[in-house]
Amino acid sequence: MSDKVAIFDTTLRDGEQAAGTRLGSREKLTIARQLARLNVDVIEAGYPASSPEDFKSVQLVAQEIQGPSVCALSRAVPADIEACAKALAKARRPRIHTGIGVSDIHIAGKFRDEKYGRTLGEKKARILKMAADAVRLARRGADDVEFYAEDAGRADPAYLFEVLEAAIAAGATVLNIPDTTGYTVPEQFGALIRSIRENVPNIARAVISVHCHNDLGLAVANSLAGVRNGARQVEGTINGIGERAGNAALEEVVMALRTRRDYFGLATGIETREFYRTSRLVADMLGMSVPPNKAVVGGNAFSHSSGIHVDGFLKQRETYEIMHPEDVGLPESRVVLTARTGRAGLRDRLKKLGYALSPEELDRTYQRFLAVADKKQEVFDEDLVAILHDQIHPVPETYRLEYLHFYSGTAAIPTAAVRLSIKGEVKEAAAVGDGPVDAACKAIAQVTNTSARLVRYEIRAVTSGTGALGEVTVNLEGAGGRRVMGRGVSTDVIEASVKAYLDGLNKLAAL
Ligand code: KIV
Ligand code: ZN
Repeated sequence: MSDKVAIFDTTLRDGEQAAGTRLGSREKLTIARQLARLNVDVIEAGYPASSPEDFKSVQLVAQEIQGPSVCALSRAVPADIEACAKALAKARRPRIHTGIGVSDIHIAGKFRDEKYGRTLGEKKARILKMAADAVRLARRGADDVEFYAEDAGRADPAYLFEVLEAAIAAGATVLNIPDTTGYTVPEQFGALIRSIRENVPNIARAVISVHCHNDLGLAVANSLAGVRNGARQVEGTINGIGERAGNAALEEVVMALRTRRDYFGLATGIETREFYRTSRLVADMLGMSVPPNKAVVGGNAFSHSSGIHVDGFLKQRETYEIMHPEDVGLPESRVVLTARTGRAGLRDRLKKLGYALSPEELDRTYQRFLAVADKKQEVFDEDLVAILHDQIHPVPETYRLEYLHFYSGTAAIPTAAVRLSIKGEVKEAAAVGDGPVDAACKAIAQVTNTSARLVRYEIRAVTSGTGALGEVTVNLEGAGGRRVMGRGVSTDVIEASVKAYLDGLNKLAAL
């Protein structure tokens, strides 16, 4: 058996299924480029049949990405599979990922219709046939076909073995064993993988992949148990984002394999020094911040603060460090960026962060950098990423904030007045609300004559200290149920909120 573990990244598909997140095709392409630098083996770019935008995302990623295989998801339904084949037409290494639910709970719950059979036994026979037919059809669109046995973690093992055998016979090259609901525990999941190797007669013709969810906080442990028992592909996402409690965090899986190579005896092809940068790019684009105590990429993952630890660390870093920050892309020494840093210092830091800008782009970034630096003592890397994000994905500014005034306090009725430039015409309005943000948004709705629904509002400090930049992320729902994400950054949180709201309105106006 190979001693290499393939890394399958599903940040752009399962990761993006995290509640309240949505990525457009250009944002997906930006992340895919970074995943290619990280050197993942497979990028699952999306689910083409789910929406025209996702179809386009897969197409764009497939056209451009050279190293990793580009994969697209489908149900075991001909139209889905055909959409995958079409979206992947220009991929250098296309992979179609198709599959179906195999646990009794999924079969009885999702395939209730009598057309799938009247008894559970009849339905199971039908699902088995659908699985094999789906793989056969997918093989017409790609030589590389991965089959997922959804909810394998709760399936009847004997039935699971039969389905897997049929999928391999139909041409599957990779078998994905998902613990869809994060129900299993490591010993049990490891034993399941071992039993698949022992009981599926044609298993030598396929690679076993593990796809674990984190409902009980066990996704990484379960994935590693799978690898210990013969899986040679691990699926997961950057920062562990995904449906409900998320997926296995790839940076954790890879660093566990690397740091404990003495135990696992296995390697990946991942360029681990790209982890930090990838983590922050994904966090920024999805508006989901990374908790400071997050393993491998959290802000505190390589910070030492208590006296005993600092003393030991300074004498010999291995006393309290099992990995080196440089190995995951954190710079060892830090240059403090301030308003006096100058263009050369800024260009150097941007280069280290992976952004090569043209002289004109650097000029524009420098002006925005100065505006931020004037308000803060120090400009952090996250500030730069936030500034660049606004530049990389500019949206036509239908509405521009000219002026914001608000009045609030413990004994006052929150009131806000805004002046906007709307396609060149200046308009003003004032409103009261439950708080200054609510008042400002109402004033904006009035002056723009829009009725977008605010479905999510999140605020976080992107940097530390009282001079931090506040970043507000909103999700707005416009006419026809179209949802967009708006972001705003400012040292003033009310201003950041208004900017985020206007960013969202501008995106809705551009749809
Ligand atoms: O969790 C899961 O079962 C999945 C499949 C669609 C692969 O994401
Ligand atoms: Zn999943």
